Amino acid sequence: PGHDPEPPTGPPSPGPDPAAGAPVEVVAGVIRDARGRILLARRTQGRDLAGLWEFPGGKHEPEETPAAALRRELREELGIEAEVGDALIRVPQAYPHKRLRLDVYAIRAWKGPLRGLEGQALAWVPVHKLADYPMPPADIPVVAALTQP
Ligand code: C5P
Repeated sequence: PGHDPEPPTGPPSPGPDPAAGAPVEVVAGVIRDARGRILLARRTQGRDLAGLWEFPGGKHEPEETPAAALRRELREELGIEAEVGDALIRVPQAYPHKRLRLDVYAIRAWKGPLRGLEGQALAWVPVHKLADYPMPPADIPVVAALTQP
C-alpha cells in the first residue's frame, strides 16, 4: 500500500544572478591614528578591484550585526580590536556583475599591532590627500563625506 509521492516542494530556485536580487552587504571603517590620518588598504592581486585603495572592511554575514561584521573583518585583515562608532554614510553601488551596499562606520577606538595580515599594503593618509588614491567606486562618496566642511 504505497502512499502518494511527496508533493513537489516548489519551483526550482532560479540560478544565481549576481546582478539581481538583494545587494551584497559590505561594511567598512574609517580608522584614524593619533595624528588624524585615515587608514586605506590596497586590494591585493587576484581579487576584484585589485590595486585600488579602500576603507578596510568586507562582507557582512547574514547572522551578524553590522558592527560585529566590521569588528571581525578588522580583526582578520588588520589584527586590531575595534570599537565601532557612528554610521557615517551608506553607498548603494551597482557594478555590471553585482550590486552592493557599503555601510561605513567611524571607528571610535582600536588597539593592537595594526598590520596588513593578508599581504595588503596600508597607508595612513591625511584627509586632504584621500582623493589622490584610486578607489573602488563605492568608496569615493565616502571621501566626499569626510572632506565636507
Ligand atoms: O573585501 P571583499 O571582497 O569581501 O568585499 C566585498 C565587495 O565589497 C567587493 O566587491 C569589494 O569591491 C567591495 N568593497 C568596496 N569598498 C570597500 C570594501 C569592499 O567596494 N571599502
